Amino acid sequence: MKILAIETSCDETAISLLEAEGSLENPTFNLLANNLLSQIDIHKLYGGVYPTLAVREHKKNLIPILEKTLMEGGFLEKGETEIDIKKIEKVLEREPELLELFLGLIPKIKRPDIDYIAVTEGPGLEPALWVGINFAKALSTVWNIPLIPVNHMEGHLLSPLFNKENQINFPTLGLLISGGHTEFILMKDWFSYEIIGETQDDAVGEAFDKVARMIGLPYPGGPEISKLAAEKRTGDFEKIFNFPKPMIDSPNCHFSFSGLKTAVLYSIKNLDLDDETKKQIAREFEDTVVLILLEKTKKAIRENSVKTLIIGGGVIANKEIRATFTRYAEEEEINLLIPEMKLTTDNAIMIGIAGYFRAIKSPERVPHEKIIASGNLRLNS
Ligand code: KG4
Ligand code: ZN
Repeated sequence: MKILAIETSCDETAISLLEAEGSLENPTFNLLANNLLSQIDIHKLYGGVYPTLAVREHKKNLIPILEKTLMEGGFLEKGETEIDIKKIEKVLEREPELLELFLGLIPKIKRPDIDYIAVTEGPGLEPALWVGINFAKALSTVWNIPLIPVNHMEGHLLSPLFNKENQINFPTLGLLISGGHTEFILMKDWFSYEIIGETQDDAVGEAFDKVARMIGLPYPGGPEISKLAAEKRTGDFEKIFNFPKPMIDSPNCHFSFSGLKTAVLYSIKNLDLDDETKKQIAREFEDTVVLILLEKTKKAIRENSVKTLIIGGGVIANKEIRATFTRYAEEEEINLLIPEMKLTTDNAIMIGIAGYFRAIKSPERVPHEKIIASGNLRLNS
């Protein structure tokens, strides 16, 4: 099965082409082409994702990225494709810029030999999601290829299954940590998802980004904090700030990070933020986050007899979190699955993977009108 996957939920315009075969338990994925255009440099100027700009960039970049992806995958063949322009104008009525680019390419190439188009339907920035969805609908209409709507969080969760050696045993616990989410998903079986804990306020990536901003680091702050903290990881170290660990002992699997963020804010008041101080803050903040994540995960694992732990989402790019959980899993003999680096932050490969699982589960066509952007879509079975 060949799948074209499209991801536009936030500030990454991403398209991948995957070949997939095999069962849920034993899938094989072959990446034919993968392209991603990050808008970070544009959003940096605003210190965070600026939705109007994200939408503008998606509209501008989807067609060039599609062309590149088809070419790399060996699917770009000059030829003619007949288009019912009225129909496509209707599908892309809110994206005139994209329509123009679409009409500049699609009629001049042959229909690629693709079985499904997977597209992120949520969660994320709704206007950004719509651009990807409408684009997917337009392609689906001209090429007569069925669409698979994909939950972005299911993509993060299943992303480690890209590697054949990564196998799931149930119950599986997913810890999803990104810029918008911090949650535990309990999977007792395929497609059975129960959110057993989640942040009550900020997401962990958001906390990284906000603390970074407080100490004058650029967006996105996660990698910046992590870099600074690493410089404080050699030689002697003594805690100075002793940041709080909100909810660490709460009798549930929920998280809270806003108190930690506020504690950082208070501690830097009237403080000379020289390089050493910044490193100290980064290290103590990162250590605190790691500890909270680890303690809560231990609790969730204990209470649910978990056999496999999956950690997904942009924040798992963090080296300290990866190392800490790897050590813990070795000690406790837990099957830990972490996606490889290119699959951690937002990408379209994971959308293709989740799309494949969905296509196996329900191969029948999803009508276009049923696919709508859903900013707050939750991962429930
Ligand atoms: O999954 P993702 O790419 O986008 C969302 O769906 O939110 O995650 C982005 C988040 C940002 O908050 C970013 O600061 C964080 O992941 N992040 C990191 C690291 N790399 C990215 N956080 C901590 N350490 C990192 N190395
Ligand atoms: Zn994400």
